[in-house]
Amino acid sequence: MRALVLTRYGGPDPGGGRAVGQPRPGARAGLGGAHGARPHTRHFKVPPGMRKVIPRYPLPAVMGNDLAGVVEACGEGVTRFAEGDRVFARVAKDSLGAFADYAAIPESLLARMPPSLDFETAASVPLAGLTALQALRDELELKEGSRVFIPGGAGGVGTFAIQLAKWLGAEVTTTASPRGRALVERLGADVVIDYTTQRFEDHVRDMDGVFDLLGGETLGKSFGVVKRGGKVVSIAGMPEPETARKDLGRGVALQALFWIASYRSRAEARRHGVSYRYLFMHPSGAELAELAQLVESGKLEPVIDRVSPFPEIGQAFAYLEAGRAKGKVVVRMN
Ligand SMILES: NC(=O)c1ccc[n+]([C@@H]2O[C@H](COP(=O)([O-])OP(=O)(O)OC[C@H]3O[C@@H](n4cnc5c(N)ncnc54)[C@H](OP(=O)(O)O)[C@@H]3O)[C@@H](O)[C@H]2O)c1
Repeated sequence: MRALVLTRYGGPDPGGGRAVGQPRPGARAGLGGAHGARPHTRHFKVPPGMRKVIPRYPLPAVMGNDLAGVVEACGEGVTRFAEGDRVFARVAKDSLGAFADYAAIPESLLARMPPSLDFETAASVPLAGLTALQALRDELELKEGSRVFIPGGAGGVGTFAIQLAKWLGAEVTTTASPRGRALVERLGADVVIDYTTQRFEDHVRDMDGVFDLLGGETLGKSFGVVKRGGKVVSIAGMPEPETARKDLGRGVALQALFWIASYRSRAEARRHGVSYRYLFMHPSGAELAELAQLVESGKLEPVIDRVSPFPEIGQAFAYLEAGRAKGKVVVRMN
């Protein structure tokens, strides 16, 4: 089968697309023909100094986080899915494997695709949709009347986050350039700040929470726009001890390292009387099924920027890394 294979970490990867052996569905796993898969970043974004402690995938590794496809065979113990089911998934965090003609996925991570979606659109949902759901509902605990700031709302995660925050009943403030304004307004953003001409920190205040998608300077300034007792959740800043404990299931050594790495963010958070959390999302078939229901009921619309055929995956990565995507970039495998 064809697959995108990672053969080394950091710098240009000579691996690229190649033929590899087809995976077998083990216990509780379905084997799917992957029709659409979504690229994430080509070089793993690991904070400086963290490369050795965050588990690396054994190489060579088939890359890719999300997929949608048809179940072609089921391993022993699979009870909820059968051959022919149209499914989608965010693959296991410790294995990847979506950029391939076939992938073996644990049953617990699979959900049935929303019937109204094609494979490409369905493949755009898992990673970004689950990340937004977990950040907004579980970590920020948004509810009716909450006020949330989502900097960078026009991208892959942001387009899901705006809609899910509205579904939870929150008032949403976001930032976008003129290129993304119409999109974020259509998705329901209540207040849109043009980050190319305005400083959000001059206009945003007393938020209950921030869902930071940009990290860096944006994260640093976000602590000041939240009211005391509020929360800042980032997926692009520095991991903190809870990331090691809750998201990675690791012990005190990594917690201590993340304590040091996140020192500045946590100090800023303390200064403003708010909490700081770096979320590393987790795959979940059950939560993906909730997202599928939201799509089917018309409450959640996956936004696709472009679909690239597999031989052009390099260009798709380059486009994604340029940071201008409006919604999601998807790779078609067949
Ligand atoms: N921790 C986790 O579990 C997890 C999970 C998923 C993603 N992530 C990370 O989350 C981050 C966001 O991912 P993504 O897929 O949403 O990114 P993306 O799709 O590449 O975001 C691109 C969008 O960001 C906008 N943008 C760029 N700079 C901006 C700024 N200064 N202010 C406001 N908007 C800006 C761009 O708008 P313009 O073109 O209009 O400028 C573009 O629409 C990435 O760092 C990704 O690695 C982490």
